[in-house]
Amino acid sequence: MSVRALRLGVNIDHVATLRNARGGMHPDPLRAAHLAIEGGADGITAHLREDRRHISDTDITRLKSELTRPLNLEMATTKEMQQIALRHVPNACCLVPERRQERTTEGGLEVQGAVKTLKPFIAKLKDAGIRVSLFIEPDLKTIEAAANVGADIVELHTGRYCNLALEHDAAGVARELERHRKAATAAAAAGLEVHAGHGLTYNTVKPIAAIPEIVELNIGHFLVGEAIFGGLPMAVRRMRVLMDEARETMPVPSPVPVRRAK
Ligand code: PXP
Repeated sequence: MSVRALRLGVNIDHVATLRNARGGMHPDPLRAAHLAIEGGADGITAHLREDRRHISDTDITRLKSELTRPLNLEMATTKEMQQIALRHVPNACCLVPERRQERTTEGGLEVQGAVKTLKPFIAKLKDAGIRVSLFIEPDLKTIEAAANVGADIVELHTGRYCNLALEHDAAGVARELERHRKAATAAAAAGLEVHAGHGLTYNTVKPIAAIPEIVELNIGHFLVGEAIFGGLPMAVRRMRVLMDEARETMPVPSPVPVRRAK
């Protein structure tokens, strides 16, 4: 398998968070998207939240019309978001759970209990030519349900794995990595394309990148944070190097839990 078989989608939501802290236009998420592509991003991800706390409707319009790489629109499973997606026809929609009070997307989408509503929701997007991804916990029953509702892709939520790494919980990290490996194998066997993301950093990316069934990682907050220190193209380039190294040297051992900065 070529190392480039692992794509990097850069999530630019938090460029918009910074812009919105003062209002106005700066920093511009579209400019960030161009710089991420310059650094090696294969696609751009943006989450249009119901409360518009970061990405705005105008951002989506500009990204869709000006980007040279695929746009992955993250959104909740609401009628309003479905209409927006159908208007813009992004390359993919990643359906995520959304709670107003949460700081970020906590936990995966409930699929088993929502089959009746998800099936037609997904079918309508697919009919318009949009690939549909479900952001889920790495759980076998949820993967089975994702295949049943007609999803093209599952994105495995790596948040718990990353949190355990931050807590230096080596046993927990090993357990979570095994869950991701099993989930990726099951999803690919069910005919689903496999993505992963949430909370990934330079320290935690390699073991996830080394899972052969995973073909795309979506990474945002850490890259935007690193961009402050060395620029976005540099941060994306460094992440790409680590991802490619992980693919060249598979299998990668569990990460040494990360030491917190004093
Ligand atoms: N994938 C999905 C579905 C997400 O909701 C997010 C966060 O917006 C990410 C990936 C990226 O997570 P992070 O910003 O922590 O890298």
